[in-house]
Amino acid sequence: MEKIAVLDSGGQYCHLIARKVRELGVYAEILPLETTTKRLSRYKGVIISGGPASVFLKGSPRPKPSLFQLDRPLLGICYGHQLMAQYLEGEVEKGRDNEYGQADVRIRHELPLFAELPLRQRVWMSHGDHVAKLPPGFETLGDTRQCSVAAMGDLKRKYFGLQFHPEVVHTAYGSEILRNFLFRVCRCRMDWHPEDSVLKIFETIRRTVKDRWVLFFLSGGVDSTVAYALTVKALGTERVHGVYVDTGFMRLDETREIQEAFDHLGYGRLEVVAARGQFLSRLRNVVDPEKKRRIIGRLFVDVQEQVLEQEEFAGSDWILGQGTIYPDRIESGASTNSAVIKTHHNRVDSITKLIKEGRILEPLADFYKDEVRTLGRVLGLPQQLIWRHPFPGPGLAIRCLCTKEDEKVLTDSAIDGMAKNAGYRGFLLPIRSVGVQGDSRSYANLTVLHGGPLDFRSLLPLATEITNRHRQTNRVVLALEPKRWRPGEWSVHKATLTRKRIALLQEADSIVTEFLRNQGFYRRVWQCPVVLVPLSRNGGETIALRPVTSVDGMTAETAQLPAGKINGLSRELKALSGVEAVLYDLSHKPPSTIEWE
Ligand code: XMP
Repeated sequence: MEKIAVLDSGGQYCHLIARKVRELGVYAEILPLETTTKRLSRYKGVIISGGPASVFLKGSPRPKPSLFQLDRPLLGICYGHQLMAQYLEGEVEKGRDNEYGQADVRIRHELPLFAELPLRQRVWMSHGDHVAKLPPGFETLGDTRQCSVAAMGDLKRKYFGLQFHPEVVHTAYGSEILRNFLFRVCRCRMDWHPEDSVLKIFETIRRTVKDRWVLFFLSGGVDSTVAYALTVKALGTERVHGVYVDTGFMRLDETREIQEAFDHLGYGRLEVVAARGQFLSRLRNVVDPEKKRRIIGRLFVDVQEQVLEQEEFAGSDWILGQGTIYPDRIESGASTNSAVIKTHHNRVDSITKLIKEGRILEPLADFYKDEVRTLGRVLGLPQQLIWRHPFPGPGLAIRCLCTKEDEKVLTDSAIDGMAKNAGYRGFLLPIRSVGVQGDSRSYANLTVLHGGPLDFRSLLPLATEITNRHRQTNRVVLALEPKRWRPGEWSVHKATLTRKRIALLQEADSIVTEFLRNQGFYRRVWQCPVVLVPLSRNGGETIALRPVTSVDGMTAETAQLPAGKINGLSRELKALSGVEAVLYDLSHKPPSTIEWE
């Protein structure tokens, strides 16, 4: 199969480039910026991604200088474009003004990158520095009012640079430009279709497993189900043993539903390991989300070891199967220049050790969720399984917020001032959640807005303004119930992970899922985590709703569900015994992650 390498300069758009290339029918792999030219010469072409750094910064990500002698087509994007100019003896100038957002580019030389495209096109820029002088052998292919070298190329060597981002939807002909690079410049064949990748995956599974047996951990979610189905089809039911760990943090009735679905599919026996007690006792007093994640990951491995100690497995050579997909790896810091946002349960130390020993099978490790769903369809899995919302391995444990001590809410005049200008009021909660800002992890306070309607036109810009201007907060929610708050009356109370709290969360979560299905919103949203927050007036709890739309979970937008229906749902949730308030999360990803922890 022909492949394109996407070199990662640390930007959040790197994965998007790889994805776009794959959508165009060519397999793309993300590699560290420092990858050797020897390795790169196995690829048909190389794309150097943008990134947050400046070429003038000491310590900014650097490629091997020999990259710019590679006998393969190169496309530098944004920071990659500037690196190309700098290494090939052009000139990059520090920006006086930053250029963010839409710009109109005038094409001065169409072939081959802009072939059959309009001579004026809308593009998306996000840069401070710019190329001031072309490297020898290059010519300007396009310019904008603010940027004299918006596109450049050395047609002989097939090296190209774009100051704008062709991979984002706001660049009108972005896909077409990438298509021209792939097919007119690199001369790739269109031979990547997730549909027919099934056979290639079978080969990889057989090659990885050899004559061993696979112990496959299932969560019931689409990723592990598809990965398991692929493994069973590649090796047969005899050599694959499915294990489902009941951690106690699953959704209401989930264990039973999954058992029934697997019985129905005829994929062999699914062993359910009851581990509720173990999980709960180890997590009871843990507040920190990363610690929770690490403990859960380790417990999964302990359970795996316990399963392997069973008599029937004694003496056989086993390998562990998991449904890890590409975003799970990247957010756990898989790429050299990417930060750890969250340690996914299948990337804890003991698993990394098994990976090094060649004892892990991850058939979907290079795929995105929508590609996984396509594979599920090709395999003939039931719609209901394929379209299940993603559910994280650590389950409701990371949706049940815990705190060490009682604390009063914090009034903050700057936040309240911003909120007042938009017709709301606002305060900060002494409770933190995880976010992703400037490509790094943040763990910051929550802002609560109240006193106004669920009107997204005013709320979404306000939420963005608050998180942009106020570093202390990375997530903004609107109070649906009650509408008006006296902040002084509310406080965050000491809370741990208990059966009672999880049961309440399961009940609320099940009401929300039913609401989404009944109202026809289930397919409209990517996911809707329901979060339990120990915030109250009288010692009860608060429920937060986090509906988002997304294509792959890497970025997400707040889902704008109709206010009338949401108000009805929040009244129903408020009526649950022990629930005192209901919140609606208004933050996109970035700056907030989808899950709160
Ligand atoms: P975040 O919260 O990082 O979530 O924006 C992105 C997507 O990943 C899911 N997620 C996980 N999935 N194990 C999983 O299998 C995990 O530890 C994990 N953490 C987050 C999350 O539900 C969302 O779909």
